[in-house]
Amino acid sequence: MKNAIDIQNLQKSYPNGNQALKDINLSVKKGEIFALLGPNGAGKSTLINIICGITKKNKGKINVFGLDIVKSYKEARSLIGMVPQEIATDSFEKVINTLKFSRGLFNRPSSGEYLESILKSLALYEKKDHQIRTLSGGMKRRVMIAKALSHEPRVLFLDEPTAGVDVHLRKELWKNLADLKKNGVTIFLTTHYIEEAEKIADRIGIINKGKLIVMDTKKELIEKLGKKTLIITLNSPLKVISRDFNDYNFELKGNKLKFFFDYGENKKSISKLLNDLIKKKIDFKNIEIEKTNLEEIFLNILEK
Ligand SMILES: Nc1ncnc2c1ncn2[C@@H]1O[C@H](COP(=O)(O)OP(=O)(O)OP(=O)(O)O)[C@@H](O)[C@H]1O
Ligand SMILES: [Mg+2]
Repeated sequence: MKNAIDIQNLQKSYPNGNQALKDINLSVKKGEIFALLGPNGAGKSTLINIICGITKKNKGKINVFGLDIVKSYKEARSLIGMVPQEIATDSFEKVINTLKFSRGLFNRPSSGEYLESILKSLALYEKKDHQIRTLSGGMKRRVMIAKALSHEPRVLFLDEPTAGVDVHLRKELWKNLADLKKNGVTIFLTTHYIEEAEKIADRIGIINKGKLIVMDTKKELIEKLGKKTLIITLNSPLKVISRDFNDYNFELKGNKLKFFFDYGENKKSISKLLNDLIKKKIDFKNIEIEKTNLEEIFLNILEK
């Protein structure tokens, strides 16, 4: 069994007729960090909530480590940790007690040592005997993560874990997730921050209006959908250039000559282009390469 999560032909309509998920097929490999990107209302939370057994699906099949989430609900659920998008925050409970309680719910033998190690890794150890309501928003969010990890799940779902979290804390959290991955935990997160997906995810899915429109490794996404622009600054402005360049996709404005390449084709073509420029005695003083980043790719896909 290679996959932590297998989803086949998943469909969800809410009772009010809202079709939130349309025939989703998706697999997450064991031990990888998977990021699901999509605009507001795309269906991200619905998908996570269904896998975690909070919302019911209409059609389709979902396995978590080979266990059907409906037929083997309890067993499957015990392998899952979940940090919801909305966090319940006003608890009078102490941090450590909430973790103990949560671990107990999954019938795990008590382990002060394990819970303390989680608190330490999330920089919450000092706060372990404080009531949750007295913590800051960012700390509460980390308590939710600690709670989700309290029963030692094999896959952790985080629904927009860094929304409203400051830059420093966000980076800390990325480190925490990388450490969890090192310990073999599979991670499934949703995010609006493309930078977040770009930084930490092994594979990225893009969902829009209930449809999974792209699913690839980061590298392949950029290679398949990315573009490169070679910007050449000429020594003196030109009005026209030789017809020999008609095979290229270019734009000439004064002393700026821009050539547009698809990601895959550019290696050979760029050296050919430079040769052609030299052959035609077009003098230039600078060359820059601009690559599309994930953000531009994402926006392009959504516009289609
Ligand atoms: N309980 C519900 N009843 C009816 N419709 C719902 C319910 N929950 C979500 N929806 C609808 O389902 C669609 C997907 O919502 P969902 O919360 O899954 O989106 P999301 O991708 O998580 O968005 P966001 O980025 O804003 O959190 C939306 O059209 C939403 O209005
Ligand atoms: Mg959501």
